[in-house]
Amino acid sequence: MKLSLEQLVGLGGDGLTMAELEAEGAKIGGFLKGFEARRQGFPLLPKLRGPVLAVKELAEKLRGKFKDIVVLGIGGSALGITCVRDALLGSLWNFHGKTRLFVLDNLDTVGELERVIDADKTLFIVISKSGTTPETMAQYFYFKQKVSKENFVFITDAANGELREIGKEYGIPMLDIPDNVGGRFSVLTPVGLFPAAMMGVDIEELLRGADGMAALFMKDEWALNVPFQFAAAQYLLEWKYGVHITVMMPYSTRLSSLADWYAQLLAESIGKEGKGLTPVSALGVTDQHSQLQLYNEGPKDKLIVFVEVEREETPTIPRVERKALAYLSGLSFHQLMNTEKRGTEQALSEYKKPNVTISVPEVNAYELGQLFMFFEASIAFLGEYYRINAFDQPGVELSKQLTKQLLS
Ligand code: PA5
Repeated sequence: MKLSLEQLVGLGGDGLTMAELEAEGAKIGGFLKGFEARRQGFPLLPKLRGPVLAVKELAEKLRGKFKDIVVLGIGGSALGITCVRDALLGSLWNFHGKTRLFVLDNLDTVGELERVIDADKTLFIVISKSGTTPETMAQYFYFKQKVSKENFVFITDAANGELREIGKEYGIPMLDIPDNVGGRFSVLTPVGLFPAAMMGVDIEELLRGADGMAALFMKDEWALNVPFQFAAAQYLLEWKYGVHITVMMPYSTRLSSLADWYAQLLAESIGKEGKGLTPVSALGVTDQHSQLQLYNEGPKDKLIVFVEVEREETPTIPRVERKALAYLSGLSFHQLMNTEKRGTEQALSEYKKPNVTISVPEVNAYELGQLFMFFEASIAFLGEYYRINAFDQPGVELSKQLTKQLLS
């Protein structure tokens, strides 16, 4: 993947200059030390062989035995695998794929889901780091009374939590989430890898891409450390110009769930102590016809992050006879999409609205691994910029506790 910062500079008097961005590079070494002190495991995940072997072994045993797969999980236990499915299998996979993958996530779709699956022929992958999340556990208890224990796999903390205890009691196959990896950073643990492996995704490629980016993350050099470049741009824009909203706008339906995954990562990691950047998920070209008016002519408080796919096989528009629309003739849908992206990028720049482009040659497992690690690493740097712990979520915990009190 490539990050292009050109559209941040030259925005008249109130844009960033490349020189001031590059000067930020002096902070990388100190930030890496600060990050190290937090003892977070996500950058090392691509190097761990044990979990990958455990995932592959269990996937080989279970693949082909079930008609559908349902993930019971929420937040970091749901968004990553949704993104993997949509990006690598296609956003319409469940309409044509042999083994469908549903991520149940919210509470009020349980009944509807039950009507579209045959529960006896479904593998339920229950994912919860804490093993106590009420939404996930409620869904588990619901399906537990419907199917036998052979229909379950648990993915949870290696030692603690109710889910671990239940798994032990019933002899349910379990995979571990490492202690030093939080929910929203867990897509490259069995949380994302096991369902992906069950769907036939090349998890080695996913990890290889992530590993390459993790190596750049550790480099104390502006030109190489792309996650730092992105974090520096976000931080400087907010600090100098009050640009406090990050709009993630992939020009790819396959990558639309990446914007949702990133929204959680940014919001839950950085939104603390009165600080934070507000994430917005958008989709190109769709949201050109919905949000773009605001981005072009509204307040200058947003950084638009385009994610562009260089190559994609799509059908071609036939020859159009009508003069006014003849320019569409012979274009592939992908060409039209990327041309519209360029038009939008130029328009934003003319309105002096900051934007950056992240481009990938194509959507594949390697590039997705790069993107996951790129964004996670950039969040680690943002945490250092804002001097907060990017790896906890006290605000979420409080809401969980209060709900429990209300129900007790
Ligand atoms: O990032 C996080 O830690 C959270 O968003 C969790 O993923 C979410 O609250 C679900 O928690 P758990 O995996 O413990 O069920």
